[in-house]
This record gives sequence, C-alpha cells and structure tokens, in this order.
Amino acid sequence: MSPIGIFDSGYGGLTILRQIRQLMPQYDYLYLGDNARAPYGGHSFEVIYEYTWQAVRALFQRGCPLVILACNTASARALRTIQRENLEQYDATRRVLGVIHPTVETVCQLTETKHVGLLGTVGTVSSGSYEMELHKLDPAIHVTGMACPMWVPLVENFEYDSPGADYFVKKRIEGIMQADPQIDTLILGCTHYPLLMEKIIKYVPQGVRIVPQGEYVAQKLEDYLHRHPDMQARISRGASTRYLTTESAEKFQESATLFMHEPGLVAERIDINNPS
Ligand code: DGL
Repeated sequence: MSPIGIFDSGYGGLTILRQIRQLMPQYDYLYLGDNARAPYGGHSFEVIYEYTWQAVRALFQRGCPLVILACNTASARALRTIQRENLEQYDATRRVLGVIHPTVETVCQLTETKHVGLLGTVGTVSSGSYEMELHKLDPAIHVTGMACPMWVPLVENFEYDSPGADYFVKKRIEGIMQADPQIDTLILGCTHYPLLMEKIIKYVPQGVRIVPQGEYVAQKLEDYLHRHPDMQARISRGASTRYLTTESAEKFQESATLFMHEPGLVAERIDINNPS
C-alpha cells in the first residue's frame, strides 16, 4: 500500500480529505491528526516545524510517497524547509505539498476589488505567507489578515455549533470587515474553519465571497498528479482510507465520524515523537 498521506494538527484536514476523496475516490488515503498536540496555531515557528516534520516522517514510514499538509499553519511554517532541506536528505523521490499555493491561485482569479481578507491562526497570519504568495501572482492585491485564535479550539472541543461559537465568529468577521470594508473575498485560511461554516455564513456581509480551500486543493492535486505520472503511478488504488491520531482512538472516531459522515470509521492511535 502506498497511500496519499493527509496531515493536519487535528480534525481540520478532514475538510480537505473529504473533497480530495470526492474528486479522486480511486486512491488509498492515510490521514494523520496530531490531536494530542493541537492546536498548532499559537506555537512558535520551531515547534510547528518540528511537529510537522515528525508527522510527515510518520506518514512516509507508513508508505506514503506523497503527503499533503492539509493545515495552513504547517504549510506556512514548515513546508518550505521540508521541501528545500529535509526531502533531499531523507528521500528525494517523496513529495510534500501544502494548501496555501492552491488557494492563492484561486483567490487571484476571484477578487474584483483586489481587497482580500485572510482569516487564520496566529501562526498563519503572522507568517505573511499568504501576502507573499498572493503578491507573487498579483502585487496589486491588498491583504488584511485577522487571527482567530478561538476558532480552532471551538472545533477541536466540539463547540462549533454552540451559541459561544456565534460570539467568537461574529467578533472576528465584524473586525476584519471594519478593518477593510472593500474586501470582496474572504479566505478561510485554516482547514478547521469550514466546520464553522454555518456560523460564518450568518455574519459575512452579502456580496463577500467566502473561500474554503478543500475544493481548490483537490482540483490542484488532481492537476499535479496528471502532470507527474511517475508519482501518480506510485499511489495505490484500493479506494480505502485509514485514520491515525496521536490522541485517543475512541475520541477521534467519535468526532471524525460526525465530520466525515462516515459511520463506523476506525482510527488507530500512534506515537510520532521519535520517528527515524
Ligand atoms: N487546520 C489547521 C490550519 O489550517 C489548524 C491549526 C491549528 O492547529 O491551530 O491552520
């Protein structure tokens, strides 16, 4: 088995897995959520990089030739170092891809006012990665970032549907729209946020487009595999998905079953602290 590895700090990457699997159901997938150490958003650059590289190695060791960092924080803080330094030493035939580049390519085509809002974790917003990638494609785009440190804990603690969630979602959306009323495109720059979509839609003003990432990441991955037939040939086609977590398997199963609408979903707990 050589599945596509999908990694996130917790449950958020499931929103990406769902869309990828919908578009390409033929492949095998191996999902890893580092739930024991989530959220990553407020950690330092070094810690996010260290955790992410450990997780990627855990997926490599289980046969994945290709790993998707289905996490903006990890994509912003660790992807570049992994691509430029680690892969060369570890195994230059493996690949790691992130979620920021596919999102940015789409956003450039969607915005008309060229005023874009970015909602994300502290790690993602403060990294400046979105601005950098957007400006490579269109230097005229104006980006306003707003960190939403409470949103991931709401999802990880299963409070995404609660009245408390309304308070935190409303506060940040009003905040970003006040900071730049010309925003016409709002990036949900955290893979956990689509799980708060019902609340988000309630507070985003009409005419502002909300951009969740799953669909675009899935399309760009399909495109990548077409352009890299060698990689495509290495991925096994058993149409299966396995779930790994660093927290309790029962806890993951309970939450992931709801997020994925997949009754009977089975997860396995693994330790990724010391991968070789
Ligand atoms: N899903 C991760 C992201 O896209 C959440 C980060 C976190 O664990 O704080 O950024």
